[in-house]
Amino acid sequence: MKTNEIMKLLYEVQHPAKNDRNIVELGMVDKVEADGNKVTVTLAFPKHRDPLAEYLIGSTRAVLTRHTPGTEIDVRTVIKEDTKKKPVGLDLGLEELDNVKYIIGVASGKGGVGKSTVAVNLAVALARLGYRTGLADADVYGPSVPKMTGTEGEMPEAYREGEKEIIMPLEKYGVKWMSIGYFAKPEQALIWRGPMACNALKQMILQVRWGELDFLLIDMPPGTGDIHISLVHDIPLTGAVIVSTPQDVALADVEKGVNMFRNSGINKPILGLIENMSWFTPAELPENRYYIFGKDGGAKMAEKYGIPLLGQIPIVQGIREAGDDGEPAALSSRPDGEAFVLLAEKVAEAAARL
Ligand SMILES: Nc1ncnc2c1ncn2[C@@H]1O[C@H](COP(=O)(O)OP(=O)(O)O)[C@@H](O)[C@H]1O
Ligand SMILES: [Mg+2]
Repeated sequence: MKTNEIMKLLYEVQHPAKNDRNIVELGMVDKVEADGNKVTVTLAFPKHRDPLAEYLIGSTRAVLTRHTPGTEIDVRTVIKEDTKKKPVGLDLGLEELDNVKYIIGVASGKGGVGKSTVAVNLAVALARLGYRTGLADADVYGPSVPKMTGTEGEMPEAYREGEKEIIMPLEKYGVKWMSIGYFAKPEQALIWRGPMACNALKQMILQVRWGELDFLLIDMPPGTGDIHISLVHDIPLTGAVIVSTPQDVALADVEKGVNMFRNSGINKPILGLIENMSWFTPAELPENRYYIFGKDGGAKMAEKYGIPLLGQIPIVQGIREAGDDGEPAALSSRPDGEAFVLLAEKVAEAAARL
């Protein structure tokens, strides 16, 4: 049993006096140790004789026993004066972004248009072009970076530096990756309420030691809701790219996405539109293009809003398979891989123009 797996289980331990928020979210898990067949969890309490300490020790033990039968469970406590004052995710400074040149939000009006596929492949392609690149998966409701990069089940290192908790990004394919998916169980994120999702998301960006980067891409949650407003408010985005399919319905959603960034309170430049699933090319007929979602919808939309069309990515079986296998298509020299490299060049040009 790895410590990150244990951490994920601890999300199930709710604090009855804190609106049933869980002990991880409340910052009460001080330490998790796994040694052979033994698991030791240390819970931090703000004061001695906390009336709920026994209860929480009991539920922690119960949750771990239920999920890890046969393991020896030891739950300890430690007194930490400041745990109460410091719920996770508040008061985060921007210093970890100090050496990041461009912070680009990857947004879409709706889900399922291939936003994450584009974000992951764009990151890999930028790295292939020699740019120092990171990607923060801010889609708290459907993190897909772990699967698409074959880093599922890995646990980023975290440590304390003075008052601050620092998380190290994972590195693979020349890119620094961070995702809420490394910390939460897939079904967990879905039930998060607004403020909790916002906090988790800010941590995934502001507590991460990105170091020196040319590009930090942020895979934003689909849609244009509160989380976005909060995100674009708190993270100093340089600009955004919008991913869409050529379909009319998707384009109507693009309009919302564009308006969100252009809203006077936000006012972030849009680098351009990326049209995904532009046409279908079967592997056995590589010269053929079938415009199954309509032709040139992206180009028309880009024109309407006065933003450049940065690239068109075809529907290719290999792109989906590569995503499922955790080896992004952009690593390959096949035409679909090259399409992402071309796109990366355009994105870099557009960023440099800002
Ligand atoms: N250009 C493409 N060609 C083939 N499959 C694609 C392409 N873009 C996305 N997909 C597939 O479509 C599905 C949804 O993509 P995803 O990137 O998760 O969308 P989103 O992040 O917008 O919800 C995934 O199974 C992905 O592999
Ligand atoms: Mg996604």
